[in-house]
Amino acid sequence: MTALRVAVLGARGRLGTFACELVRRSPGFELVAEWDRGSDWRALARASGAVVALEATHAGLGAAHAHELLERGLRIVVGTSGVTVEESAALDRRARELGLGGLVVPNFSVGSWLLQRFAAEAAPWFAGAEIVEGHHERKLDAPSGTAAETARRMSAERARAGSDAFAPPTSHHAARGEVQHGVPIHSVRLPGLYAHQDVLLGGGGEVLRLSHDMHGPEAFGPGILAALRHAARAQGVARGLGPALERA
Ligand SMILES: NC(=O)c1ccc[n+]([C@@H]2O[C@H](COP(=O)([O-])OP(=O)(O)OC[C@H]3O[C@@H](n4cnc5c(N)ncnc54)[C@H](OP(=O)(O)O)[C@@H]3O)[C@@H](O)[C@H]2O)c1
Repeated sequence: MTALRVAVLGARGRLGTFACELVRRSPGFELVAEWDRGSDWRALARASGAVVALEATHAGLGAAHAHELLERGLRIVVGTSGVTVEESAALDRRARELGLGGLVVPNFSVGSWLLQRFAAEAAPWFAGAEIVEGHHERKLDAPSGTAAETARRMSAERARAGSDAFAPPTSHHAARGEVQHGVPIHSVRLPGLYAHQDVLLGGGGEVLRLSHDMHGPEAFGPGILAALRHAARAQGVARGLGPALERA
């Protein structure tokens, strides 16, 4: 079996460094290019022989870089934050026109993906829900994209199940959190934290608490490899880890 040839854009960053090391030591994968700021990756992309490129640069650049990679014949896995649902759909359209594919993955953690699934499944059964998310103090945005996506999936599942939307908070004090998709989200930023999410669902006389803690980038490993494998054969660009894990 020939190894899957992978390029990493943003290779000197935290996620890129981890991904390069992971690909280098994983059987069935070959790291053929490490590009970062200053690399002439646009000129080198075709000749690199890479089949899939992992985009891991700065929030806001992911969609534009992914389009440029597709135009050069590479399949894509976009890990960079901030790719919108509309941008993912545009990537999907263009990839299909080109006969290519890939995945936009806002969070590579399998545990986080499972937490979202469990929270969505539980959502129709409880009157209210709140999310408490915590990250290291260097994370500037709040609430996290992952927590907002959890809230979106919970409210979508309630709608699908025919349940009313979660009851709105009874007051709008800042301390009650920022409401997204009907779910108040509370963001904690502290040294010592890495990435954490608790979903609390409350009903008559009971609370269900779902909790996920990440302590380091190793948690991204299985998701990155599954996403690369998926991108190598996908037609079109899907969003989230689901398609990669369900078919892995
Ligand atoms: N999907 C996930 O599970 C996941 C997990 C972790 C992080 N992320 C996201 O992934 C992105 C990278 O995170 P990180 O912590 O690795 O950030 P980082 O440490 O700042 O690394 C980003 C790297 O990309 C380089 N870069 C920036 N603009 C570039 C460009 N135009 N062309 C080529 N290289 C460029 C940076 O160079 P300079 O330092 O010179 O700017 C840096 O080496 C962020 O958006 C982050 O939120 C996603």
